[in-house]
Amino acid sequence: MDKLSSVARFKALCPYLGRTKASTLRTLCTSSSRRYPSLSKLTAKATKCPVMGPALVTRSGQIAQSAGYASVAGVADMQAIHAREGIFTQPGANIAECPHAAAARKAAQMAEDLVKAKQSADANKTTSTQASGCPFPHEAVKDTQNQKSTAFDYESFYAAELEKKHQDKSYRYFNNINRLAAKFPVAHTGTVEDEVTVWCANDYLGMGKNPVVLETMHRTLDKYGHGAGGTRNIAGNGAFHLALEDEVAALHRKPSALVFSSCYVANDATLSTLGSKLPGCIYFSDNMNHASMIQGMRHSGAKRVIFKHNDLQDLEMKLAQYPKETPKIIAFESVYSMCGSVGPIAEICDLAKQYGALTFLDEVHAVGMYGPRGAGVAEHLDWEAHKRAGQSPDAISGTVMDRVDIITGTLGKAYGAVGGYIAGSTDFVDAIRSYAPGFIFTTSLPPVTIAGAQASVTYQKEYLGDRRLQQLNTRALKARFDALDIPVVPGPSHIVPVLVGDAALAKAASDSLLTDHGIYVQSINYPTVARGEERLRITPTPGHTREQMERLVRAVDETFTRLNIPRLAQWKAVGGRAGVGLPDALPITPVWNDEQLGLLDGVAPQMLANGSKAIVDAQAAKIAQDRFTSLLGSISKSLPPYPMSSGSLFNPAPIHMPTPIAATA
Ligand SMILES: Cc1ncc(COP(=O)(O)O)c(C=O)c1O
Repeated sequence: MDKLSSVARFKALCPYLGRTKASTLRTLCTSSSRRYPSLSKLTAKATKCPVMGPALVTRSGQIAQSAGYASVAGVADMQAIHAREGIFTQPGANIAECPHAAAARKAAQMAEDLVKAKQSADANKTTSTQASGCPFPHEAVKDTQNQKSTAFDYESFYAAELEKKHQDKSYRYFNNINRLAAKFPVAHTGTVEDEVTVWCANDYLGMGKNPVVLETMHRTLDKYGHGAGGTRNIAGNGAFHLALEDEVAALHRKPSALVFSSCYVANDATLSTLGSKLPGCIYFSDNMNHASMIQGMRHSGAKRVIFKHNDLQDLEMKLAQYPKETPKIIAFESVYSMCGSVGPIAEICDLAKQYGALTFLDEVHAVGMYGPRGAGVAEHLDWEAHKRAGQSPDAISGTVMDRVDIITGTLGKAYGAVGGYIAGSTDFVDAIRSYAPGFIFTTSLPPVTIAGAQASVTYQKEYLGDRRLQQLNTRALKARFDALDIPVVPGPSHIVPVLVGDAALAKAASDSLLTDHGIYVQSINYPTVARGEERLRITPTPGHTREQMERLVRAVDETFTRLNIPRLAQWKAVGGRAGVGLPDALPITPVWNDEQLGLLDGVAPQMLANGSKAIVDAQAAKIAQDRFTSLLGSISKSLPPYPMSSGSLFNPAPIHMPTPIAATA
């Protein structure tokens, strides 16, 4: 007879059993109580019954006290039991080998569990005695309900969370955009024939389709295949990884660098490791910092003090509250990508020195884009010194880049690849390499990606034409919008944030630009920007043509009119919003000055016209190719013909037309 059929015999006697479904009884009989694993759920429940509870406890006492059970028997009792049963155990035998001892242990455990279950039932006893037969109807009903709804309703939970996003208009829609290497900056949508012009990608310089990068990647892929094969610790560490780390360390003129799968991971892993290791560490974090930094600081468990965006007074006031000897890290960015503002790097370094803090600078939106060699804003601030030093990997003492302790960058934006990195002192980098789980326990980037990234970094170190043209196109676009009273959040960087000020309107504008004009500009909503500061974030590249810019300007103008989106004058009339139309706004000085752009000596590149191709610099291309000769061999075929500039960073000269890159030795 199974347990259920023996229980069924009592159904008529016990009101609880009488009205409980057979399926529920089966579950109760066959599953263990979570709290008292030696009892079935039904037995545990029975301890709550005024009739069964005392009976079970009395019985359990008898079980535990019986000398017939090995757990409480003396040696003589044990031997007698074994002799009677014909059991012969070896010296040192385990309790499980003796059926009596094992059964006794189980029984003793059960007795103990029964007593505990009864005690806990007494403690939880409710006074309600109404209703349907069972002496403990409240408990019974509660338990029956538990049986019905034991599983959490995960799907409803997801739906409710998503509904919140729909309600506050922060639900994210991802467009299907497939950027075409041969038609940059054109992409096709989900329909291959449906082409649109992309105006919001972070491939700021078009390096994702640069011929030197692609050619290097093709050769690496053919020789080394796809995946990395493991973590850096196990089979995933090779010459490409080490060379890229040397390349970015030299770019920032720091002793060491470490590559991660992305800069999100680099920031998170580094900040969480540092904050948890440095004793009593306190973070000072700009309130506009990227999510990757915020997450890293949170994960560290260290105290976090938030200072107002780019506000040196607020930062100093907060730093001054802690002793100089307390470990502190000021975490901030150079280019804040959603508003285009730029951090006061030199001044933050001054404060860091005064108050004994480390500086952690995220140059994600600046690497490749600023500085004579593309090392970022910190390099740009000492333009002449860095230009003079050429490609020396050595630090230039006293420069802003030298004074920043930790620099992080991405390979996924201006460098057109994927991956991120940190650069700093040798021991700092080695400590992160040794302790950061986000670095250690993940498959490393494949050689093909690493090679493409290094080719890109090397090329941009040698050629500033792309970033110059990107800045010139940014200037041109801002001027066009200004002339039409289209509100652009003012900033000194390459980002063109067009203020819309409403989530639904921003999405409608983005949708309309895509479907009505074939222009892709993503809307940026909360939580990426504050509510009421929703915008269209436009990123011109050196690859955009005059005609494409003309179409963009006309399309944005038409969309603003049709959707009745406020213009600059309207924001001025209400005192401004998100830095747009503020009455006391100071004039903005762009990071790139006219001289650096080549406007004073006539070497500034020209915006492309439809049908013309992007410039490829022959000297920079050759230097990038040469980096890979030892691993990939010499190049046997030249690149397809592109317009070439023979003017590299250190030898500017006018642009001339197609000359294929010669085969290199
Ligand atoms: C400021 C900042 N830091 C870090 C990251 C993360 O970089 P990655 O795209 O390499 O993960 C981003 C990405 O947008 C960013 O904007």
